[in-house]
Amino acid sequence: MGLKAQVSDGDGLSERDFDVVARLLNQLAGIELKPEKRAMIAARISKRTRALGLQSLSEYCAYVASPQGETEHGAFISVLTTNMTRFNREPKHFEHLREHILPNLRRKAERGERVRIWSAGCSSGEEAYDLAFAALGVCPKCPELDFKILATDIDRNILSIAQHGVYDAQAVTGLPENIRGAFFQPTGHSNGELSVAPAARKLISFGHLNLHSDWPFKGKFDVIMCRNVTIYFDAATQQRLWKRFAQALVPDGLLYIGHSENVSPELLGHLKPIAPSIYQSRGATGASGTATQQEGKT
Ligand SMILES: C[S@@+](CC[C@H](N)C(=O)[O-])C[C@H]1O[C@@H](n2cnc3c(N)ncnc32)[C@H](O)[C@@H]1O
Repeated sequence: MGLKAQVSDGDGLSERDFDVVARLLNQLAGIELKPEKRAMIAARISKRTRALGLQSLSEYCAYVASPQGETEHGAFISVLTTNMTRFNREPKHFEHLREHILPNLRRKAERGERVRIWSAGCSSGEEAYDLAFAALGVCPKCPELDFKILATDIDRNILSIAQHGVYDAQAVTGLPENIRGAFFQPTGHSNGELSVAPAARKLISFGHLNLHSDWPFKGKFDVIMCRNVTIYFDAATQQRLWKRFAQALVPDGLLYIGHSENVSPELLGHLKPIAPSIYQSRGATGASGTATQQEGKT
């Protein structure tokens, strides 16, 4: 029997090794692993244990937590993050954007000003493309204007799927027919996969970013969408992140969060709730801003 066959998904993860994994993942990505997820964690890290030709989960845990294991951190994060997403998830957010926000952003871009939208924790790209479809629907000329969408994730493997922009036919069934017709084209492969249209791709820059590291942006954002990402963080980490988002928004900029997430009452001085799971930045001075104070490049 070869080494690969020796580690099966059913192998247990000791409490001690679970602690090693949980501490490291928290340190690297801010993610909190619940002890009841131990079997799932074991199954996920078995894949990496086999891929590296190691003999046990315990050996993998010791390796990934050692200085030599640093090169494994990307793959470790990738197997342990939850990337579940879909097109048109929480569609009320996109309706809100189309009706209340994008018409103003269109005017702003048409005046020659800069417009920036950020999908933070974009997973395989569906959310970022949904933002592009909404933007192009309201402002078909935005690719010619200073109008950009940034989409970031900590998981480089999932980002390469996002960048590729190819989805199977089943994945787009949640989108309205007019969007499917306008923004997807068959790749020509017999399996029916579809590719996102160039106009939507061109609006988006995908990039690797750990939300717990420093952010390299000089300018501020008009809209930040960070949904179903902080549910994996502890409460203090979540609140720190909401505050950083508030500071990264232009005055009156919008923060969209997942419906199961919430901003604590202490932060309501920075973020004003304007609809379920939608917040508006009050800005540093609380003044009504026009986003003209932005500088630099994103
Ligand atoms: C469940 S998906 C949500 C995707 C999308 N926002 C949505 O709502 O459908 C969560 C994503 O957050 C990413 N993520 C987790 N921790 C992160 C961190 N510290 N920095 C950046 N992204 C992170 C994961 O890699 C994953 O792709």
